[in-house]
Amino acid sequence: MLVVPLIERKREGGALTPEEWSALVAGFTAGRIPDYQMSALLMAVMWRGLERQELAALTDAMIASGQRLTFEGWSMPRVDKHSTGGVGDKVSLVLAPLVAACGVAVPMMSGRGLGHTGGTLDKLEAIPGFRTDLSLAEAKSQLQRLGVVMIGQTPEIAPADKRLYALRDVTSTVAAIPLISASIMSKKLAEGLTGLVLDVKHGSGAFLPETERGLELARTMIALGEDRGCPTVALLTAMDRPLGRACGNALETEEAILALRGEGPEDLMEVTYALGVEMLLAGKIESSAAKARQRLENALSSGLAAEKFEQVIEAQGGNPKVVEDASTLPQAQAVEVFAAPDTGVVTRVEPRVLGRAIVAMGGGRTRVEDAVDASVGFVITVKPGDKVLAGEPIASVFARDPAGVELAFEALRQAIVIDERLTQRPLPLVSHRVTRDGVEALTAPEKKGGRGASPSARKR
Ligand code: URA
Repeated sequence: MLVVPLIERKREGGALTPEEWSALVAGFTAGRIPDYQMSALLMAVMWRGLERQELAALTDAMIASGQRLTFEGWSMPRVDKHSTGGVGDKVSLVLAPLVAACGVAVPMMSGRGLGHTGGTLDKLEAIPGFRTDLSLAEAKSQLQRLGVVMIGQTPEIAPADKRLYALRDVTSTVAAIPLISASIMSKKLAEGLTGLVLDVKHGSGAFLPETERGLELARTMIALGEDRGCPTVALLTAMDRPLGRACGNALETEEAILALRGEGPEDLMEVTYALGVEMLLAGKIESSAAKARQRLENALSSGLAAEKFEQVIEAQGGNPKVVEDASTLPQAQAVEVFAAPDTGVVTRVEPRVLGRAIVAMGGGRTRVEDAVDASVGFVITVKPGDKVLAGEPIASVFARDPAGVELAFEALRQAIVIDERLTQRPLPLVSHRVTRDGVEALTAPEKKGGRGASPSARKR
């Protein structure tokens, strides 16, 4: 196939046919189309976008590049949640066992840290022995046995996305709504779901910070899901400050475990419950949001959700004792307290600065092959709007060595802005609900996951 004329057409703003997209994806996945041509095409898509039928064809071709999970004869509802990525976002670790404990099967397929954002797989792998690389057959069997499995993208699922994603990551072609939508939805639609809930982040720490762009991303993914028979709903949630208090893999795993034991910070629990309600409604386990919320709260307070997480850890090769005793998680060598440099009101806790610092401290990757040090990160006990006194402890840093501590302190000095008064209102934690029928602005008053909401993520 001649690729250059197709690149030219897209570059000039034209559309490719479904057959052309299908041949391009198949050729690229099979190695017949070189990376440099695909990179040029991706960059043309960044600038020119995709028409609706092109996006549909690209997504279908990406799904068709691999297998689709099927569950003939298994009537249990299967609902997954996908977040577009943030800092301190450990929701999946709490949500998957919680929703499974309520009777909805959760085939959770997650990713690794990307750029400044953390990834569920890296957090799970902080648990010694935990395997996220199950085969599709293993994953399916665990899902049917336990009602939940937490894995990475297997080689069988949308292999075209895996190759395209790696290329986008190094050619600055990630932040395009059609490309993000096709990437996320090709994986999700291959999971054989009966429903999908999307957590679309907006705010300065999100890949697409502007609310309007977040809404457009949500609408685009919903249309792809619904048109392919998968009921899809999205919530827009705040990423203008980290979610919860812990940022960094092992610290976040510990905070997720605390949450499963009923001691989670309020903001983390609000987002988790909001997404959980949508998952139970999508799974048709409950008919109203109030009943769904009650069911989730019961599963948490009865210990069923924590027990489910123990079962997942055991089934996937980890030590389930971590749920009772977090000291089995990797421990940082250098731990220091950070004090407020001034008296005043916290106006910003900037997620992007913190996420980048975690990568620089060894807790994320700058190259695909990098190993991740799960122990490093921050526990930040203030949120925008909190009053602080100079010299008061407001964060702890967890680093490998004194140089890491210094780097972390510098990041905190930049990320946590203290002023005389709050200059900008933080985004509501959950601001919009998007369905195929439209966008609903949620007016519930914001609940802060403020200080004192729960014990610190790690007591030492
Ligand atoms: N997550 C994905 O899986 N794909 C993207 O393109 C962006 C975030």
